[in-house]
Amino acid sequence: MKRICYLFLLLAAAPSVAGEMLVIAHRGASGELPEHTIAAYTRAIEQGADYIEPDLVATRDGHLIARHEHLLAMQGGEATTNVAEVFPERVRDGALYGQAVRGWFVEDFTLAEIGRLRARERMPEVRPASAAHDDRFSIPTFQEVAALAKRAGVGLYPELKQPEHFAALGIDVVARFQEELQRAELDPHGALFVQSFHPPTLRRLREALGPRVKLVHLDREAPDLADVSTYANGVGVPMTVAMEPAFIMSAHIYGLAVHPYTLRAEARFLPDGITFEQALDALRAAGADGVFTDFPGRARRHLGGG
Ligand code: G3P
Ligand code: CA
Repeated sequence: MKRICYLFLLLAAAPSVAGEMLVIAHRGASGELPEHTIAAYTRAIEQGADYIEPDLVATRDGHLIARHEHLLAMQGGEATTNVAEVFPERVRDGALYGQAVRGWFVEDFTLAEIGRLRARERMPEVRPASAAHDDRFSIPTFQEVAALAKRAGVGLYPELKQPEHFAALGIDVVARFQEELQRAELDPHGALFVQSFHPPTLRRLREALGPRVKLVHLDREAPDLADVSTYANGVGVPMTVAMEPAFIMSAHIYGLAVHPYTLRAEARFLPDGITFEQALDALRAAGADGVFTDFPGRARRHLGGG
């Protein structure tokens, strides 16, 4: 009986989770245009996204720019920029997430040099229509993405990428982010979620930005929700984790919002025989509070509102 009462108390204390599911434009409308470009973010905003998501890495001179990882292009492999053509001599051996790789790395370039690059579609075979826009768009700074969100009146959902990697290079991305937030004159308590896969970074953000800023713990598996609730307001987990029995209900009991990633329209990224809309329905039925998607327009059309 005691345990049941306790559960009811926890449920009563949990934040309201009955609101609309947020449409979070993952790297912009990145299913349609090269990711992390002003064009992709603008398209997402036009399509009714609630939030736009930039992943952030730091240049050699410490500016935050919108890229998914510190590798700008792999020699002879995946590339999200034309750096191999603009700076062929800068190729070197390095590592990405602990794996040896030869390529071009953001920490070797100043912001002015990044300004000479243009974006490319990461998966040209999967998304040829997006690849048709290769080499058209510049690589935006965090300041440019923040200014766009502010002008358009949509939320911003930045992720600090590879904080330990940049710390080893003498770049404190938390301090840089705090400075850049102030420079952008963004209300840290407004439509802003800040995300990281690195709990120490989230704890530092809590310290730096105060108790009211909304922080999201990212994970590739189900995290210890009790622990996460001591420093974050939400969790971002793969859709398969979010759909595990009782995961979302448990997160809500701990007062954590759940924003699963990443809903993509192509069949290869969806469970067998499930459409984009069916996956969205399943997440909504399970109680997800938002979803990261490469196709914000399609999500908005299906969910309505916006
Ligand atoms: O930030 C949510 C989701 O974007 C995490 O995955 O690798 O696309 O940044 P990733
Ligand atoms: Ca991300």
